[in-house]
Amino acid sequence: MKIPSRIFSFPRFLKILQSLHLPTRPAGGNVKQVRSKTSDPAAHARHTDAVELFGKFYPCDDHTNVTPKILSKVGKSLQNQRNHPLWLLKERIKDHFYTSYLSRHRNPLFSVYDNLSPVVTTEQNFDSLLIPPDHASRRKGDNFYLNQSHMLRAHTSAHQRDLIRAGLNAFLVFGDVYRRDEIDKSHYPVFHQLEGVRLFTKYELFANVQHGEELHLFEKGYRTSCKQESHTLEAVKLLEFDLKQTLNKVVTHLFGKGLDTRWVECYFPFTHPSFEMEIKFQGEWLEVLGCGIMEQQLVNSAGAQDRVGYAFGLGLERLAMILYGIPDIRLFWSEDERFYRQFQVTHIDQKVTFQPFSKYPPLVNDISFWIPHEGYEENDFYDLVRNIGGDLVEKVALIDRFSHPKTGKMSHCYRITYRHTERTLTQEEVNATHRDIERSSVEKLGVEGRF
Ligand code: PHE
Repeated sequence: MKIPSRIFSFPRFLKILQSLHLPTRPAGGNVKQVRSKTSDPAAHARHTDAVELFGKFYPCDDHTNVTPKILSKVGKSLQNQRNHPLWLLKERIKDHFYTSYLSRHRNPLFSVYDNLSPVVTTEQNFDSLLIPPDHASRRKGDNFYLNQSHMLRAHTSAHQRDLIRAGLNAFLVFGDVYRRDEIDKSHYPVFHQLEGVRLFTKYELFANVQHGEELHLFEKGYRTSCKQESHTLEAVKLLEFDLKQTLNKVVTHLFGKGLDTRWVECYFPFTHPSFEMEIKFQGEWLEVLGCGIMEQQLVNSAGAQDRVGYAFGLGLERLAMILYGIPDIRLFWSEDERFYRQFQVTHIDQKVTFQPFSKYPPLVNDISFWIPHEGYEENDFYDLVRNIGGDLVEKVALIDRFSHPKTGKMSHCYRITYRHTERTLTQEEVNATHRDIERSSVEKLGVEGRF
């Protein structure tokens, strides 16, 4: 099947991008930091005056917490690397949307973006989505900030408002997103999402309903800056039906029939009601997407007052891991040809089942320390381990907490599993890394070692 590569004419595409103030990314984006005052990479970001990313300078302040390791991933755009499993998944999803959803003029309904800059303002990432100023999701411990005003997007939802404002009624955004998180085989601080948004006018939503012309999107009421009109029951139910059907179809397109899925209700500040879809995989229910009906206040703030809509966000690594049987999320960053050669397909629908190359043996080392009374965040430790151990670290688990009965001091013990995906590690190599982690934890996090 032929896949249209661009839906807009190039001038229109540029115009929309300009109106968004979102620069397209130069291939292999230039990522570098300036005026480093220290040679220690882990301390780099905090001790420089500014972070340079895609040719722009972001002055450091007390929010700056991006690390060199994270910055080295920005601009890799795995979703755009031909024959990468995330690219392959993207192409299959695009193909599905391009062939299943056509506009009145028989053009693809959904516009596709896969190259929007992951550097966004905190306003785009949070405020534009009605996330309150004191909301827990803004925590420094959970996000990568360039400084107080700019960050690496934590989700592709950061673009919803701007793309609607640019006049789009149906779009898909594929992109890399960044979150500080635990370390295990399904969590990595950079992963990829697909955002989808679809808006409807009253004529579109009720087009196939008997006596649809008598139905309305909103209840009779009024709208102020702090009150939104309420959606009618018919509008909500039709949107919910269309949303779940759209997502059920894309999942069936990817996996075929017979997959065990379920819907659960959940909460996002920018959709109501909100849902998650879970897929049963190897006996466990895995959450693969979040979605919901867009809060009307958001739609209105983007200038689409006469429309209602829904949005969804899919986790691409999760889907690819289930689809291709990829056992460890670090493999997506692998440069080992035994990995990427397996995804060199001649047609995007060719079935691929990943053949794991033999797992090299793990080496396990524990680390215990007394944590300081204030200011210690578990994610600071995980970042530090990633900075030093890189992809040698497969997993870090907090296996014991202990509070000293007399001093009241709290001790944490973490179990670090080291394993290279491409070769056997030696004990000396691991020891050297482990000692570095011990030393750095004392220096950078103010912990007291129990080594
Ligand atoms: N942005 C949400 C997340 O990252 C997912 C989502 C997207 C939820 C769109 C609702 C609508 O978890």
